[in-house]
Amino acid sequence: MRVITTVQEMQEIIQQVKAEKKSVGFVPTMGFLHEGHLTLLRNARKENDIVAMSIFVNPLQFGPNEDFATYPRDFERDRSLAEKENIDFLFYPSVAEMYPSEASISVIVKDRTDVLCGKSRPGHFDGVATVLTKLFNIMMPTRAYFGKKDAQQVAVIDSLIKDFNFPIKLIPVDIVREENGLAKSSRNVNLEPYEREQAAALYRSLQKARSAIEEGERDIPELKKIIETTILNESQGNIDYIEIYSYPELKPIDKASGSIIMAIAVKFSKVRLIDNIIMSVK
Ligand code: PAJ
Repeated sequence: MRVITTVQEMQEIIQQVKAEKKSVGFVPTMGFLHEGHLTLLRNARKENDIVAMSIFVNPLQFGPNEDFATYPRDFERDRSLAEKENIDFLFYPSVAEMYPSEASISVIVKDRTDVLCGKSRPGHFDGVATVLTKLFNIMMPTRAYFGKKDAQQVAVIDSLIKDFNFPIKLIPVDIVREENGLAKSSRNVNLEPYEREQAAALYRSLQKARSAIEEGERDIPELKKIIETTILNESQGNIDYIEIYSYPELKPIDKASGSIIMAIAVKFSKVRLIDNIIMSVK
C-alpha cells in the first residue's frame, strides 16, 4: 500500500492505472476507521483491480458549532488497518493541499436538503458534494462505495453523479453494527460509556417500528411515537429528528407504503448519532 499526500502525485498514478485499463474502486472516508469502513474496502477489493481509499476530514462539511476540532483522528492506526485490507493507495492530503486558497466555486445541493441532516446541518451536503467532486476528479473511480448509514448522503451522491455525468458506479453498502445494534461510527469513541449502552436504543427503536409495520401498522405519527417512546425511555439522548419518508426521494408520505426510510438523529453529550432502516412496505 502506498500513502500519497499530494493531488498531483495521486492524479499521475491514477492516470497511469487508467491507461492500463484497470478498474478503480474508491472508498472516501474521514478516517478513524472501523468495521463499517473496512467492509466498504472489502467490497471494493472484490470488485476492482485497484483499490484506493481517501482519508480527509473535510472542514467544508462541518458547521461552525460542530465537531470538526474534536472529530477523532489517528493516522498511524488507520494506516495499519488499511494495510491489512490489502489496498493499493491511501490518499491522505492535508487541508491546505485540498483547499490551497479560498474556493471560488462550490457545489450547492438543491434537492432533498430541507429534510433530515440537511435541515439540521445547513451547508453540510454542499460541503460533501464539493469535496466529492474534487475527489472524483482526482481518483477517477470506476466504482465508489458508500455506506447506507448515511442514507441521505447516498441519495445526494446519486444525484451528484447523475447531474454532473461522472462515469462512476455508486455502490451502496449495508450498515455494519456493533453486537448491541449500535451502528458503527467513528464518533462512537466520543460517547461516555453509559451513553454507548444507551445509544443501542436508537436501533431498537427503529426495529420496534419495523415490527409494528410488519404487524400491519401504517400510520406515520403512530410509528414515530413508537420510535420516540423507546428513545426517551431507554436513553438520555436529545432527539434531533425522527422522520419517515419515501426513499430515495425523501418526500413526506401519508402512510407507510412502498420504499420508505425511517431515520433518526439523537444528540448525546458530545456526539450526535444517526441511524436508519430502509424497507419496502406492501
Ligand atoms: P465517514 O463518516 O468517514 O464515512 C465514510 C464512509 O463509510 C461513508 O460512505 C459512510 O456511510 C460509511 N460508513 C460509516 N459508518 C458505517 C457503518 N456503520 N456501516 C456501513 N458504512 C458505514 O461519510 C463520510 O465519511 C464523509 O461524508 C465523506 C463521504 C468521506 C465525504 O467527506
